[in-house]
Amino acid sequence: MVTEEPVPAFTHHAGLDPDGMFTIAWMADKEKMEVIISLTCATLGWIGFGVSTNGAMRGADMVAAWVDDAGMPFVQDHYGEGNFRPPIDSQNDWRILQASENSSHTMMVLARAFDTCDPHDLPFTNNTKRFIYAWGKDDPGNNLAENLKYHGPINRGSRYAFMLQPSPSNGQNLPADVKTWRLGGSTVIQKHRHTHYWCNIIEAPQMSTQIHYIGYDMVHGQNSLQYLHHVVVFECSGKPDENEQLAQYATHGGHECYTKNMPQDYTQCKTSLAVWAVGGEGDRFPKHAGYPLLTEPGRRTFFLVEAHYDNQPRDHGVQVDWNIDIFYTQNLREYDAGNFLVGHSFDFGHVVPPRQENWLTSGHCPSDCLREGLPEKGIKVFMVFLHAHTLGRKLRVRHFRNNEELSPMAVDENYDFNFQQTAVLDQERTVLPGDHITLECYYDSSSRRENATYAGFAAVGKEMCLAFLMYYPRGPLAVCSSSPHPETLKKVFDFDLFEKEEDFYAFTANHDPRNPLLPHKGVHYQDWVNHLNWDGMNMTEVNYQMARGPQLNRCLKRGGIPAHERKPVVSFPTAKYYTDKEAKCPSLLHPKGTSG
Ligand SMILES: *[C@@H]1O[C@H](CO)[C@@H](O)[C@H](O)[C@H]1NC(C)=O
Ligand SMILES: *[C@@H]1O[C@H](CO)[C@@H](O)[C@H](O)[C@H]1NC(C)=O
Ligand SMILES: *[C@@H]1O[C@H](CO)[C@@H](O)[C@H](O)[C@H]1NC(C)=O
Ligand SMILES: *[C@@H]1O[C@H](CO)[C@@H](O)[C@H](O)[C@H]1NC(C)=O
Repeated sequence: MVTEEPVPAFTHHAGLDPDGMFTIAWMADKEKMEVIISLTCATLGWIGFGVSTNGAMRGADMVAAWVDDAGMPFVQDHYGEGNFRPPIDSQNDWRILQASENSSHTMMVLARAFDTCDPHDLPFTNNTKRFIYAWGKDDPGNNLAENLKYHGPINRGSRYAFMLQPSPSNGQNLPADVKTWRLGGSTVIQKHRHTHYWCNIIEAPQMSTQIHYIGYDMVHGQNSLQYLHHVVVFECSGKPDENEQLAQYATHGGHECYTKNMPQDYTQCKTSLAVWAVGGEGDRFPKHAGYPLLTEPGRRTFFLVEAHYDNQPRDHGVQVDWNIDIFYTQNLREYDAGNFLVGHSFDFGHVVPPRQENWLTSGHCPSDCLREGLPEKGIKVFMVFLHAHTLGRKLRVRHFRNNEELSPMAVDENYDFNFQQTAVLDQERTVLPGDHITLECYYDSSSRRENATYAGFAAVGKEMCLAFLMYYPRGPLAVCSSSPHPETLKKVFDFDLFEKEEDFYAFTANHDPRNPLLPHKGVHYQDWVNHLNWDGMNMTEVNYQMARGPQLNRCLKRGGIPAHERKPVVSFPTAKYYTDKEAKCPSLLHPKGTSG
């Protein structure tokens, strides 16, 4: 039963449960198209592992394995139909490469193909990022299904981790010349707040010559695994005098983010340098690229750290501490890296009507803007960070060249607000100044019964549709986004005039888009939209107009400098659209008569 195959070196390691009882290591063999997984659990009974699109048992794909008292290993394929014992899959797609048991632990190395063509299995894709696990203290008897009882929350759970994407650390050890700048945060969880955003300004090490940022690691502290939800380090790349302004905040403990208490000066810190979220492992740049960390060597540089603490259990008085190690080097790498943001402009043209299961929002980055902001010979994108809020379900970065669509640069078919990890591209993607990039975000607003959802910073209640592209060599481009043309909004939402069309791009003091007056209607835009009778409208048509109709492009260089005087009109490219290769599993097109 145990094969003679050698066990490869694992590229990913993670703890499954918070107490360190169950750990996993794995590697994706892209030649053989299979994943090798090593499971180690502090039990002499059975261990269970699986993947799921949403962390639930229903629709999940699982394997259970154990070593019996005689040292004989067993493996059994299962699939989840709900929160009860999972039925056995009649087709076992797992191989045991190694198995053993000592006085306290069971260890198994298992292999499974990315795509088994078994309708009871989930294919492993680079969107597979939810692991589920369980274990029992006894070996099952002859009938495992009878013995895999639901054991309550103590020895089962789920965690996030990308299965097939390259590990963000790229298997690289940190080079010897790397220095570490440690920044951190701490808070005391309070029961009246189930969510808590804290923002503070920090100062980068001051140097007389430029340094390159090349990655980071999250260093968990007291209780941060449980309560820390995400941390974003934003670069404050304002003008030098604005930067000096920030010095006064650097010694201050910070403010609750995006509330009236947060100083307006904080809002100039917009370019994300490092993004960590639940389940994240950290980032590493490729060896030939580094991000210039200092706005201007010799002067002070500031960053905004936004930490989101999540306290769903409503615990009280718990101390939470964490650190992030920012890695930098004084030996500059071959290329300066940069990042720019594509997607839907952050303005009131971003509307997700209520009760829509599959609402599409799109934002274009046309060649006009890429030409203004990128080096003539083009760039190589190496990492992509996709971002939406809680309604986001699917995000896709589409890429057009001449009259053809290339394969998408990045896709997340199971977007999950609770797991936002930078995606390292398998292969660096060349983007030429003549290309066109479109970000598409699909939302499910069925939970919003009454009003539409608009652009904003609040994670719950507001939305975004953004992708940050990390690339080299660095150009001046910072933002390349778009939103529906005001004429489209007037037509689909049935009003004829804005009092001030400039308000289209303006923000309120608390960082939300303005809510301009509609003079002929005598109400503000959002109130008008909130009172629309959505059920009486053809929503397919409304969505089509907004997502596929003409849009206005917003093209900014670093420091918020507009690249054009006017905002150019941009449309969805007319091109031969990209289609995925033939399905690898023809049988799935003609499902065999399986009874569950
Ligand atoms: C049993 O295996 C576990 C996991 O590899 C290890 O941590 C532990 O030290 C081992 N116990 C003994 C007694 O060897
Ligand atoms: C995901 O998979 C596709 C197809 O295998 C690949 O082209 C792409 O680079 C992968 N990575 C990301 C981040 O989408
Ligand atoms: C919906 O919008 C209207 C008008 O903008 C507002 O008065 C009302 O409070 C909103 N309802 C909810 C549930 O937010
Ligand atoms: C709604 O609009 C779509 C797309 O424009 C169209 O195909 C469909 O027939 C319309 N439905 C109704 C009920 O008018």
